[in-house]
Amino acid sequence: MLELMAKLSTVAKAALQGEFGDHPALVSDLSIGRATKREFGDVQISAAMALGKKLGRPPRDLAALMLKSVAADELVARAEVAGPGFVNVWFKDQVIVDAATSLELRPIGRGQTVVIDYSSPNVAKPMHIGHIRSTIIGEALKRVLRALSYQVIADNHLGDWGTQFGKLIVAYKRWLDTDAFAKAPVEELLRIYIKYTQEEKREAGEEIAEDEATKSAPPILQEARRELVKLQAGDAKNVALWKTFIEVSMAEFARIYARLDVSFDVTLGESFYNDRLAATVALLQEKGIAVESEGAIAVFFSKERDGEELPPFLVRKGDGGFNYGTSDVAAVLYRVEHWSAGRILIVVDERQQLHFKQLFATARRLGVTASLEHVWFGLMRLPEGVIRTRDGEGLIYLDDFLDEAERRAEKVATEHNPALSETERREVARVVGLGAVRYNDLSKDRRTMITFTWDKALSLTGNTAPYLQYAYARMRSILRKASAEDYAPGPIAREVLSPVERDLLTRLLWYPDAVEQVARTACPHILCDYLFDLASAMSTFYAEHPVLKAEPEIRSSRLTLIDRVAQVLSDGLGLLGIGVLERM
Ligand code: ARG
Repeated sequence: MLELMAKLSTVAKAALQGEFGDHPALVSDLSIGRATKREFGDVQISAAMALGKKLGRPPRDLAALMLKSVAADELVARAEVAGPGFVNVWFKDQVIVDAATSLELRPIGRGQTVVIDYSSPNVAKPMHIGHIRSTIIGEALKRVLRALSYQVIADNHLGDWGTQFGKLIVAYKRWLDTDAFAKAPVEELLRIYIKYTQEEKREAGEEIAEDEATKSAPPILQEARRELVKLQAGDAKNVALWKTFIEVSMAEFARIYARLDVSFDVTLGESFYNDRLAATVALLQEKGIAVESEGAIAVFFSKERDGEELPPFLVRKGDGGFNYGTSDVAAVLYRVEHWSAGRILIVVDERQQLHFKQLFATARRLGVTASLEHVWFGLMRLPEGVIRTRDGEGLIYLDDFLDEAERRAEKVATEHNPALSETERREVARVVGLGAVRYNDLSKDRRTMITFTWDKALSLTGNTAPYLQYAYARMRSILRKASAEDYAPGPIAREVLSPVERDLLTRLLWYPDAVEQVARTACPHILCDYLFDLASAMSTFYAEHPVLKAEPEIRSSRLTLIDRVAQVLSDGLGLLGIGVLERM
């Protein structure tokens, strides 16, 4: 469809150029896209509305001008001017049939490097729901961009440095239960970390009770700061502890990534940038971008220069320590210099929007021209009882969550198809359970807050993974039956194409467009919507069209159609990180 639109755009533009010559308004491509409703054709040219003013002509006149050439084109069956100046276009059936033989994605990313910073959990704490969403969305974006031939570097920007380590070292020395640590290290680290937090809060409360005016940091926090300074100075004992924390956390994360089939090209955490921080701040100061203020060093912004008034961005604290943002500046520079990244996507929840605005404005002033995007998402609300949380802070155990998903999917599978063998049921449970969780995350616009419920995620109807997976399994079952009868798929016969079949074919043609849109906007739900529409159109098709019982020529044409739809469904779900099943 994208090629067809490009051809049409050229024809329409030539018509306007015939009238207006090489007018500057006609330099870029004409806007053209999928018709908003089926009654409006296959595609609509909407360029006339924007061009009316620039060319000094009523949009409907411009549309009429384009119509003449477009209607006469060999690809086009019919065209009309509609509304304020749209040109509605229907392609010839044969054009649609021919185009549907190749649904390959265009290699639009060739030669361009994109870094995706995602997942990025913090060491010694279990992943929270924000990290899970980041992992799922980031992985989908990686697959989509790769499929379009972008050179993608998947980077897990681990939170493996910073103040939590001082606290953890204190907690470790005071409260570690070595047996528990040997059995479930990350759980034990979390337990003592929470204990630390409570202790710090308690001490801070006591201080306040004593004297609000002379309030100083609680003693335990002072101790944590001392441990952190020792760690940063390279104290052997503390460095060894820090390494242990990373090791056990990474082992835990790795297990989860394997379970979700997520992989990274590099894991360059905050600590990787540690020895670049001083130079980064020096560079910012040298260029006059960062200045000293009350002992600290910060970047200040103005509306005139940065387009927006933002609060100062701290890059060095009063005590000489560096900030989360400092390592982010170093990371942007590294990615641009080391990988020649033209685009950097950072997948983190909405609470960090200000941080990334500050970071990107700072990078701009350093001369970074790459596209810098904070791919933010709303947090997922978990109704009480959906997932076990152990500290009241929304930290969840992802493993428990995925186990639960599989358990519930297995129940659904058993009810749905009691004939499945034990092994099949296990496989269905795994693929459907994980798929349901993932799709639930991906199918809603990431910028909205979502509420997770098991019933919705696992429903066999509606815009869910189980629905799409089931639609796929049904198509495969028809194709298997056909093959058992020796019915071979054949060319799609234009002569017997019903309106519903033509509609289905046309929908297939929009697949590459949906994938490219996801790449442009970093919004995976666009692909989900597309796949859901396709599967829904497929069920309309079944309702009216026999397949195995149809006349041979029609049958073989329909088998090919089903095969194509199944292929796109499984490819599309694959880009989202979701598997399909032959049977369920
Ligand atoms: N570790 C951070 C957190 O959990 C997310 C890091 C995201 N990436 C970045 N470059 N800041 O909040």
